[in-house]
Parts: sequence; structure tokens; C-alpha cells
Amino acid sequence: MTQQLTGATTAAGTGTRWWRDAVIYQVYVRSFADSDGDGIGDLRGIEGRLPYLAELGADAVWLTPFYGSPQADGGYDVADYRVVDPLFGTLADAESLLRTAHGLGLRVIVDVVPNHTSDRHVWFREALAGGGRARYHFRPGRGADGELPPNDWQSVFGGPAWTRVADGSWYLHLFAPEQPDLNWENPEVRAEFEAILRFWLELGGRGVDGFRVDVAHGMVKAAGLPDIGTAEQVQMIGSQTLPFFDQDGVHEIHRAWRTLLDSYAGERIGVAEAWAPSAGRLALYVRPDELHQAFNFQFLRCPWDGAAMRAVVDESLAATASVGAPTTWVLSNHDVVRHVTRYGGGAAGLRRARAAALLMLALPGSVYLYQGEELGLPEVTDLPDELREDPSFFRSAGQEGLRDGCRVPIPWTGDGPSYGFGPGPGWLPQPESWGKHSVAEQTGDPGSTLELYRTALALRRRLAGLGDGPMHWLDGPEGVLAFSRPGFVCTVNTLPRPVELPAPGRLLLSSAAPDISGESVRIPGDSCTWWAI
Ligand code: BGC
Repeated sequence: MTQQLTGATTAAGTGTRWWRDAVIYQVYVRSFADSDGDGIGDLRGIEGRLPYLAELGADAVWLTPFYGSPQADGGYDVADYRVVDPLFGTLADAESLLRTAHGLGLRVIVDVVPNHTSDRHVWFREALAGGGRARYHFRPGRGADGELPPNDWQSVFGGPAWTRVADGSWYLHLFAPEQPDLNWENPEVRAEFEAILRFWLELGGRGVDGFRVDVAHGMVKAAGLPDIGTAEQVQMIGSQTLPFFDQDGVHEIHRAWRTLLDSYAGERIGVAEAWAPSAGRLALYVRPDELHQAFNFQFLRCPWDGAAMRAVVDESLAATASVGAPTTWVLSNHDVVRHVTRYGGGAAGLRRARAAALLMLALPGSVYLYQGEELGLPEVTDLPDELREDPSFFRSAGQEGLRDGCRVPIPWTGDGPSYGFGPGPGWLPQPESWGKHSVAEQTGDPGSTLELYRTALALRRRLAGLGDGPMHWLDGPEGVLAFSRPGFVCTVNTLPRPVELPAPGRLLLSSAAPDISGESVRIPGDSCTWWAI
């Protein structure tokens, strides 16, 4: 018996374009698989594990930056955009990875980092020597001797967003000092990035299938670089307008990139990593002539609370529907605390994380999975300070230093020096519990999180229309989210205790087994269930 419809239809997609409902698996390159035993994941390691991702049911893989870089920010400080850093392999390895992925039916998305270069990039070295400074933001300082930064902007990683160079002038870096911001008003910068995109779109013939655009909201700064008037800028990101983020001028760049992407066969896509003050502002990045997708950080940031989650789902779907784009869903990535831990950690955190995954996979839109979430990995919270590499840890006296804990190499086997990550230990130590979380230990165990993801992804593919198209909210008690999709109902109990409901249909899958008796069902606390109707 289905429940009464209470909501209007939300989100209507065309259902034909691959990226509208794609499940895209994020590989954090340095922590996925190490083929050569140096403790750092690499492209050959990834290539060897692609069959795992195809079998898991991913449609595409997103690789974090593997370009030439001094690694001041895990590769998001690029010194040469057209090479593979020797840490991760060679261009030939990248071509081979692309061929293998495509052979397995997996698309490959790579990161592009256009807001800033590394301070070792040839352009910045020239700038330090006095030439080509117009490619960056150099300004004289304030104060009697120019000893104060040109404005009050703060770096996202803590401290001032300006660093002074030998001749007394200052350059802007919204992130670490090793990541000087490019000046996108300069046509040379625009031309160079178009050439970089083409390089990767053509690599080895077929090229990559798209780009994740790093800091897609940051490339254009407000004219005159005005003061903000408060030091609380990091807390304002994503909720208020700042003169260095989400400026209208960025859209012109994304339109140019869309034209470039569309000039290649095979539906190459751009996905914006954009922080905007509202779902409506975020939707501007995915207008039909701009990028294809934007990460939905509102969903990621939403607490485990039924009413809050429903509101975020509604707002996200309405905003993207207004421009005809698909919504995306994401729970974890390499910059945030893993969601098992965010939802409370321990057994309760894992229960909620499993339920949230089923919720996300039942919603219309494209889904981003972060490596290891399919294993139910928690955040590693006890890394020794001396092993940390995240620049935000060092620039904020440790307060924000949470990004290494989600970047610990993932476990493939129950034992071995790095649980199958590589032949030797990994670059960060793995907890002892990693063995039981490993792919090998979970494979074939029907109660495991890995098998839950495998089954969910297979069902999502099989149930035509689940990834795209309309959804309807259904009546449910407070704390319970219920919605229908074509031939399908999803119920999520966000309360810690069981709830009794009329059984919506035939049980398909559940993050914690419901107790069905006759016409009614008892749904365990913190769980999600899929039903065929
Ligand atoms: C990336 C971070 C990186 C920052 C600067 C972010 O959006 O996801 O890992 O530190 O951009 O490039």
C-alpha cells in the first residue's frame, strides 16, 4: 500500500545525458593505491584497481591533481599543468589509465586548478624576478613603508591572504602563500587555461571526459580589491557575499569553457567546486551554457535531521530545476571530516552513514562518492602532528587541521604493511581497525557496507529512471522521510528509535533490516529502506 502524495513533483530531467545521473567516484590519488612502494598512491596503482570501481558500479572516476607540483597543498599547487608529477607516474601512465578506464566503461574526470598556480610555476618565478606580474595580483602595501598588506583579506587556510616579496610589494594568495592567485582579467591567463583544457581533452586521442574545476567561484575578484571589515571571513564562505568569491565575472569564464567542452565529441563535462551564498546563486554555475554540475555542499553540511534534510533536498532540486540542470549529492570528500564521524561516529555514525548513502542514491541527480566511504571508513582523528601535511593545519595553529584524517590510505586487504594499499607502509599510518574495514574482508559479507553500496548501485542502474526524473514526498511521521520515484519508494528513519509504518511495497534493500509483519513494517532507527511498488 503506497502512502498519500503530499508534495508536488520536483526536478524533471531529460534522462538521456550520462552526467545527469552519473555516480562519480572520487579518487584521492595519493591515498588510493601505491604500485611502487614509495608510500604514495600513483596512477599505475589506480589503473590496477579500476576493475574494482567498475564492479562497484561507478560510472566515472574523478582524480584529484596529479600534475607537476611541490605538494604544498596535496597537489592543488600546480607548477606544471601538462606533466604528471614523478610521485604519481608519467604521462604514459595517464594515457594507459585512460585507455583501461574507457575499456571498462568508466569515464575519467580530472581536476583543473585555475584560481592559483604553485609559487614554483614558471610564471610566478618570472614575476618574482620582476617580469609578467600582471598574471598575478601584485600590489603595494599600506602603511608608511608599505609594511601592511594591501587589504584585510584572510587566507582560507588562516592568516593574511597576502605575502610580501623582496622588493616590498605584496601578492595575493587566497590559500597558502605557495598558491599565488592568478589574475583572470589578463587574457594571457585565459588563453593558457584553454590550452591546458585542450591538452587533457586530447591526451592519447580520446582524452579525459571532463574537469572538476577547483575554486570555480574564486577566479574573479571585486574591482579594486575592497576591504571586508571583519576577520571572520572563513566562516562567511558559502553563506555571505565576499569580494573574492562568487563574483558575477566568473560566469563569463565558465561560459567560454562550456563552449570549449562542447566543441569536443562525447559530452565532456565541467563540475564546479563552488561555494555560493545560496542554492540560487549556486545554480547560476550550471545554467545551460555554463558548467554541467556543481557540488552540493549544502547537502554535505546538513546534520542528520529529517526536517533539515528534507528542506535541503527541496531547495537543491528547486534551484537546479530552475536552470534545467541535474542536482548533485555528496557526503564526503578530501576536504571534510568523513560522514561516519560527522554523524556521531561509532556504531551510530556508521548506521546513519549507511542510511544517508541509500537516501542519496535514491534521489534524482548525480552522486559523488569519496574513496573509502563504501567501506564505512571513519575519520582518523589521532594522527601525530609531525606526520600531517595539510597546510591549513599549520596556518591555523591546528584548529582547522582536519583534512589529513580523511586522506589516510584506504585498506584493500585484512593485513599487510598498509592493508594492501601498497607493498610498504603508506604516507599516513592507518589505524589497526583498517583491516576489518578492507575490501577483502567486506567482500561477500551481505551485512557489510561495501556490499550495501554494491547492491544499491546495481539496483540504481537497474531501476530505470531512479537517477533522474521526478520525485514525490509521501506522508510520514515526524523524523521520517518518505518519497516515491517511478515504481519505487524510499523511507528514511532519522530518529534513533524504530518507527511503525504501513509497508510501502516489496522490500528491495535496507541499511538495517526492517521487521515486516503483514501490512505493516517496523523500521529500525537511523536507517533507510528501498521498496518496489
Ligand atoms: C580543494 C582543496 C584545496 C583548495 C585550494 C579546494 O577546493 O578541494 O583541497 O586545498 O581548493 O586549491
